[in-house]
Amino acid sequence: MGNPVWYITTPIYYPSGDLHVGNAYTTVVADALARYHRLQGEPVLFVTGTDEHGQKIAKNAEVAGLSPLQYVSEIVARIQDPLWSRLHISYDDFIRTTEPRHYRVVQSIFSQLEAEGDIYKGVYEGWYCLPDESFWTESKLVDGHCPDCGRPVEKVRQESYFFRMNRYQDAMIAHIESHPEFIQPASRRNEMLAFLRAGLEDLSISRTGFRWGIPVPSDPDHVIYVWFDALANYLTAAGYLSDPERFARTWPADVHLVGKEIVRFHSIIWPIMLMALKLPLPRTIFGHGWVLLGDTKMSKSRGNVVDPLVLIDRYGLDAVRYYLLKEVPFGADGSYTEDALILRTNVDLANDLGNLLSRSTAMIERFNGGVVPPLHAASDSHVLADEVARVYKEVEACMNRLEVSVALTAIAALIRVANNDSEEQQPWALARQPERREELDNVLYNLAEVCRVLSVLLTPFLIDAPTAMRHQLGIDESVHRYQEAVFGGFPVGTRVRRGDPLFPRIETEASSPKKAAKTVEVEEEPNWISIEDFQKIDLRIGTVKRAEIVEGADRLLKLTVFDGEHDRIIVSGIRQYYKIEDLEGQQVVLVANLKPVMLRGIRSEGMLLAGSVPGALSVVTPSRSLPEGARVK
Ligand code: MSP
Repeated sequence: MGNPVWYITTPIYYPSGDLHVGNAYTTVVADALARYHRLQGEPVLFVTGTDEHGQKIAKNAEVAGLSPLQYVSEIVARIQDPLWSRLHISYDDFIRTTEPRHYRVVQSIFSQLEAEGDIYKGVYEGWYCLPDESFWTESKLVDGHCPDCGRPVEKVRQESYFFRMNRYQDAMIAHIESHPEFIQPASRRNEMLAFLRAGLEDLSISRTGFRWGIPVPSDPDHVIYVWFDALANYLTAAGYLSDPERFARTWPADVHLVGKEIVRFHSIIWPIMLMALKLPLPRTIFGHGWVLLGDTKMSKSRGNVVDPLVLIDRYGLDAVRYYLLKEVPFGADGSYTEDALILRTNVDLANDLGNLLSRSTAMIERFNGGVVPPLHAASDSHVLADEVARVYKEVEACMNRLEVSVALTAIAALIRVANNDSEEQQPWALARQPERREELDNVLYNLAEVCRVLSVLLTPFLIDAPTAMRHQLGIDESVHRYQEAVFGGFPVGTRVRRGDPLFPRIETEASSPKKAAKTVEVEEEPNWISIEDFQKIDLRIGTVKRAEIVEGADRLLKLTVFDGEHDRIIVSGIRQYYKIEDLEGQQVVLVANLKPVMLRGIRSEGMLLAGSVPGALSVVTPSRSLPEGARVK
């Protein structure tokens, strides 16, 4: 017996067409988490794969004039390579539900549950949503359509095997109630509890009329329902039946990362299957939000998809990974736009991170012949060291809570602090004062060291940049442990190697100088305002004390902001972009003399400043904290 293994899964994808940015999102997040745990020295099992049975796949294959297996095999091969290989998905196992190891598990589970009376034969009469492969009773339909996806459903009446889910309703409610970490985020947990409390029906788990699935062992005219088959993949990949010793180390899974539309399958059907098998339940089912295109979920069946490979070709691997990991807010939906990807890459990676590295190597060359000097005592570097220590812990805490985007936000903030710090220390001025040589050494050391620390912190998220950074810093290019991100470990005397920019700025039509010049020509008479006009706007610093959801308004948050004198209520259209807990305590810039308006029955007394591009928004905040009420001008 070895150490217990940290086991994370993605959903297994339907190979009913090539995968898109939405699917890549789940997989890249799981990959970053797996890489992080490996860096922490834990044994990890990271599994992804494909869900190859079901009526939808059978129909697609027929249309393509191929056998179902031929049809899926071509797509699966492309998912493995080039898709996951080019995104550097570090999976340990790729499971296909058409593999013999999986057939064996599914049939054995079915037989066991049948023998124990949890599966019985009856007649199914109801509705079936083909794109979702899900069963619905009349009462659950919404306007005659699938309540999950809103698409038409078809009537089904056939002999079927049923899984006695109803038996486990109370046990399931009790488990969810006593394990707050089981379904995350909490909003999904509440939805699932409401669903369970409304009453659980037995589930039809076999189909007749088509053959593309795993046959019911005792009655091969029936194929096993594709979700019953698919969910069992998590056991197959853990070594259930095939390798009991391995299974003892890997099971239960730590995290099933899934899109929010399939939380119900994972947090109700799946745990009940496990309860019936008397196996421990997974620790956490995390239902993340969707990548939207405009207002709609990106999906194969809607056809509004973006190919991740095209983005990698255009913008590079790390830019795409960074964007996916950082831009979709933790647990919520996020809109995909190419503009936002470009903005993120230019601001966070080219400007902030890239500049920090090139500035560091350039200054070490200029002021110390390219050699990293020692850190002297009695320095101010504690500020940076403290900040690194804080971010080190914050990243750990975020990753343990699966808040990948928040972890990257903390790292991005550290990059900005380091850039600001090096500017404030004015190394060029220190260099003119020989008596301040030690201070200059400290600045140079700190720059090299913070770049080294960042290369460690970024290792789970980015592929090429950490190595390139370490190459330029002149240190061992591979990172072995997260603990290397402790401040103070730079090998003194190392010679840096200045190199190409880490992330070249992405020039677009809008940002290219040609276009900019043209715009100026056209703008003959700019719409100037006078300083007096500007001074009419009373801009002040405030602190958000409370943020609340406005019922029935998807985009609005009700904020209570302290402006130095009183608490004002401000209704702001930023709900899609911020979590409540990220706002509370934030300092903001507010327009204090804006005429109050009624919004959704709430009197809004001002507004917050925020920058935005389509699909991305950022509230303006002072770079250092200020007393509330301070004037901004
Ligand atoms: N085969 C089932 C899962 C079985 S798991 C035992 C399935 N497959 S799927 O191909 O339709 O989608 C799988 C997953 O892809 C979603 O749950 C989600 O994790 C991811 N996404 C698909 N579209 C997405 C977005 N637009 N945005 C984010 N994730 C998306 O369901």
